[in-house]
Amino acid sequence: MSTGLVGSPMIKTIHDFKLAGKVVFLRLDLNVPLSEPDAEGHRKIEDDSRIQEALPTIRYAVEQGAKLVLASHLGRPDGKRKPEYSLLPVANHLAELLQQEVTLAEECIGDGIELMVQSMKNGQILLLENLRFYPGEEANDPEFSRKLAKLAQIYINDAFGTAHRKHASTHGVPSLILERGLGLLMAKELKFLEPLLHQPKKPFYALLGGSKVSDKIKTIETLVRKVDGLLIGGAMAHAFWAVQGDAIPADAKHPKPEDIEAARSILRDARRREIPVYVPLDTNKGFDIGPKTIEKFGEVLANAGTIFWNGPLGWFEKPEYAQGTFGVARAIAETTAIKVVGGGDTVSAIKKSGFADRFDHLSTGGGAVLEYLEGNGLPGIDILKLNQRELTLIHSALREE
Ligand code: 3PG
Repeated sequence: MSTGLVGSPMIKTIHDFKLAGKVVFLRLDLNVPLSEPDAEGHRKIEDDSRIQEALPTIRYAVEQGAKLVLASHLGRPDGKRKPEYSLLPVANHLAELLQQEVTLAEECIGDGIELMVQSMKNGQILLLENLRFYPGEEANDPEFSRKLAKLAQIYINDAFGTAHRKHASTHGVPSLILERGLGLLMAKELKFLEPLLHQPKKPFYALLGGSKVSDKIKTIETLVRKVDGLLIGGAMAHAFWAVQGDAIPADAKHPKPEDIEAARSILRDARRREIPVYVPLDTNKGFDIGPKTIEKFGEVLANAGTIFWNGPLGWFEKPEYAQGTFGVARAIAETTAIKVVGGGDTVSAIKKSGFADRFDHLSTGGGAVLEYLEGNGLPGIDILKLNQRELTLIHSALREE
């Protein structure tokens, strides 16, 4: 069985491989938020969603008898071994969830690891230490990639949250392993995200919030060509008000010139395409959308076929400014639309609203979702699509470096 990606070559999924007895390199995004270290230097996992989402692929590979080598980054240790970024809390939590031993290796590459992998039995799990302890990971270094690739026969990428990074574990390694494909989480992410770009159920609305419009401009530029309407909330809306000449409350965040310029260009493009842009009609002191806006957004979205939501509509962490985000979450929950959410803050806002189970897909990606929706592909996914000829070219380039 293969995933037919619209407009792209076929990509294999983990279901396409015979895993029994094979060493499978499974790239996951186990980059979870951790607490500050306690007196003994231990950190606790504050939200294990990404670990939970990785379980189906891990369980499947174990059931099939793979020798499973898991790999992930955690935080940004900048190529240095920093104990506070160790994957140890993740290894312990995974072992608890799986009810199975998960050995944390101290290294990612080298003779020691190769020996450990050689002695693995079918169904065993080894988690490599934080990939970003090595400068070669973010540099997509060919030598580091080669040493990682040497460990395994099959490469599976299930790290959607990191698919926008062209790193050794997401790009260099799969370019060196012919048997490569998507994990089950990646396939699920694409099942919901791909139709947003290609065949969304109409009418399709994008609801965008958060703070800076200039950070999301490329994504919005693509979405304007796909949607039937754009709804804008959060501090991002202030840039749109500024273009319209509306006042921004004194205590609220004032948009930077680049944000105003971005808003102006989006409005111009949307007008040309006759796409309505709904900006807030009222505000709660500039930190949340007001009741008229909640009602208006609810009305607009009521008969949507598809809704994509990225960015909270207010400062939802403060109860006095959570009404907008939670109110619109409720209105969306009541629709029959396909409801897709991207971005860590937005997902946690929806979980807090109590309506999470009424949404179809809460993506594990933040930056990855926005980059995916720019419409130019993602390096961690595109590398899995390459044909034999392209692979041969990459191999010779790596040999020459
Ligand atoms: C994320 O949390 O968005 C991903 O794990 C990627 O992390 P990064 O932004 O540090 O590359």
